Amino acid sequence: MNLNTITGNIADQTVDAIIINLFENTDSISDATEEIDNRLGGTISALLDGGDLTGKLRETSVLYPGDTLPARRVIVVGLGPLEDFTLDCARHAAAAAAMRARELGARSVASILHGRGTGTGGFETGPAARAAAEGTLLGLYSFNQYKSEPGQKEVTSFTLMEMDEQKDEVLRAGAREGEIIANCTCQARDLVNEPPNRCTPSFLAAHAEKLAVDYGMATHVLSESDARELNMGAFLSVGQGSAQQPQFIVLEYNKTLLSDTAPLVLVGKAITFDTGGYSMKSAAGMVDMKTDMAGGAAVLGALEAAARLQVPYPVVGLVPATENMISGLASRPSDVVRASNGKTIEIVNTDAEGRLILADALVYATRYNPAAVIDLATLTGSAVIALGEGIAAALFTDDDKLAQRLSRASQMSGERIWRMPLYPEYTQWMRGSDVADLRNIPSKRYAGLGTSAAFLREFSEGSPWAHLDIAPMANLTASKAVQPLGPAGATGFGVSLLAHMMLEDD
Ligand code: BES
Ligand code: MN
Ligand code: ZN
Repeated sequence: MNLNTITGNIADQTVDAIIINLFENTDSISDATEEIDNRLGGTISALLDGGDLTGKLRETSVLYPGDTLPARRVIVVGLGPLEDFTLDCARHAAAAAAMRARELGARSVASILHGRGTGTGGFETGPAARAAAEGTLLGLYSFNQYKSEPGQKEVTSFTLMEMDEQKDEVLRAGAREGEIIANCTCQARDLVNEPPNRCTPSFLAAHAEKLAVDYGMATHVLSESDARELNMGAFLSVGQGSAQQPQFIVLEYNKTLLSDTAPLVLVGKAITFDTGGYSMKSAAGMVDMKTDMAGGAAVLGALEAAARLQVPYPVVGLVPATENMISGLASRPSDVVRASNGKTIEIVNTDAEGRLILADALVYATRYNPAAVIDLATLTGSAVIALGEGIAAALFTDDDKLAQRLSRASQMSGERIWRMPLYPEYTQWMRGSDVADLRNIPSKRYAGLGTSAAFLREFSEGSPWAHLDIAPMANLTASKAVQPLGPAGATGFGVSLLAHMMLEDD
């Protein structure tokens, strides 16, 4: 789809649908909505008065202007109450309106920026354009690569509009940023939605190599024997039962600056399928385990975003990719492995495999002397239990500054994170092995979320580090309680959060 921007009056647009908006329970009406209402002889006001239109967030109504406007349809989208309005409401309104336009078969669409205009919450053109572009493109996402029937109708041209001619440049720049962030999020969604027989560790490595070529990054992929040379015993133990070769993917953006600038290092868990190994999952528990590489996909998406947004410092992506399967070669409960920092781990439960691959990746990260390390992982079911599907990702860090940076980015991106504690007892519970330095599951059955983070901390050293357990957010089922920006399935969670963080750093 073609996303463009122009300054001018939406009432003049000759398109299949124009999108205007409405707050809930307020007289605050944008100039554009007011003008369209006038042109339609007060239809919008009448609908409002009659209660047919409420302005509830994501509510859409379609009006047919006949010959009062050059556009074929008017879509009025609700923004919710003015006092609750945030950039994320703008994103959700944009998504809902774009999806409605597509449903109606509109191919050319023009929209005002939600939250701009008189009397409203008044976001600047830049952030408002960014949010509108993100919401629109994320809302229109679909994954139908493997469907024989042609997919749904398609919007082919989408125009974001702003009245003020002076704002032409910021409008364009904001929309462009939003487009990049949404594209990279959709790229991560694609990787996560791919079936696990296609999306193998080598498939992810090939994707990273393509990103490197397309966006001028450096990449190298460590093979099984490379990893053995580096003593990555924890990483290698997870994939040893799989016919798929493990791949430890390294992707470097702004590599030439690495010699004198400390990079941001992003680490993403990429288990391309998690059966649980011999501590096997139930059939129901295995259902969506192709999405256990969502952390890795988010890191690849964030690296693409860093390159396309031209972040001024170096960013490194580390994606340990492997498959957790069973065979005569697979690891057993009670096996002891040694990670690349020398620490030994008793594998009490082969289903706690994410922390094993992240352990060696976090150790690898230290060689960069990073400014900060952030890992993303669909690490625990207990994160989903604690926070709820679609509600928030869990954040763990000892570094308040890094927590603040992430929290600001969370507010900007709308991707919610909630900080959790890292008490010393959690570490004690991970240390109670009779045979090794660490156990891979705690000696007590409590705090599966906190103990997993405490385990990871044993492998991060010297730099501020944050861990994001994205299990609640990575994949949303159709019966979700929370409205995702787009269809059920992969969300691409993390790409937008990290992209907004990198933009804020400028
Ligand atoms: N990939 C799973 C975590 C997961 C579960 C993500 C459900 C998304 C939805 C992870 O590898 C796992 O199996 N974790 C175990 C850890 C346990 C054995 C300590 C879990 O959370 O049950
Ligand atoms: Mn597992
Ligand atoms: Zn897993």
